[in-house]
Amino acid sequence: MNSQAISLYKKRRSQYALGKTLPMSQNDTASLIKHAVREAPSAFNAQSARAVILFGAESQKFWDLTRDELRKIVPAEAFEGTSNKIDSFAAGAGTVLFFVDSDVVKGLQAQYPLYAENFPIWGEQSNGMAQFAVWTALADAGIGASLQHYNPLVNEAVREHWGIPASWTLRAQMPFGSHEAAFGEKSYIEDEARFKVFG
Ligand SMILES: Cc1cc2nc3c(=O)[nH]c(=O)nc-3n(C[C@H](O)[C@H](O)[C@H](O)COP(=O)(O)O)c2cc1C
Repeated sequence: MNSQAISLYKKRRSQYALGKTLPMSQNDTASLIKHAVREAPSAFNAQSARAVILFGAESQKFWDLTRDELRKIVPAEAFEGTSNKIDSFAAGAGTVLFFVDSDVVKGLQAQYPLYAENFPIWGEQSNGMAQFAVWTALADAGIGASLQHYNPLVNEAVREHWGIPASWTLRAQMPFGSHEAAFGEKSYIEDEARFKVFG
């Protein structure tokens, strides 16, 4: 299929073998991530997604904090494997932390009581759209990334270390960097199982 969008979506894959070389400056990478979050749609244009962009030693610090929290809960005999996995994320050039600002969600609930139950769901969905936008923009720029979820385990440590506002809830972590290996195989379910087209 000849579509720029589809080509780009195909380019976005989970890259677990990350290195520290970026094809552009740190400033340009941060700018790309910011633009992607800005352009992502959100319910009522609420723009409830927040992102903290960590490079170099700051990203390493995030993964060290995560390792410290995991050490408290992972059985000792399994910890080496866990720690190696954390090293693979820390091997990248940086990490984007994605948050939902619950103050925005609460504000909308107060303003539009009819949709009160929907706003938390839309906040999560909008966050996913921001994550996809960033992931795809990074892929387009030749930067590999994956999507991780060490929340809520690390939430307090992150809040304390980087002075994150109380209303920001950590939802996902995206380590990124140079591609250091080919992607794994990806399988697809049959179209018949997931699409119905009428008309
Ligand atoms: C909502 C969501 C949560 C995910 N959580 C994780 C995760 O915690 N750890 C991980 O390694 N990958 C995670 N992934 C990545 C998926 O496993 C991956 O996107 C999927 O297997 C398809 O592979 P691809 O990204 O290479 O296309 C997540 C993806 C989505 C959309």
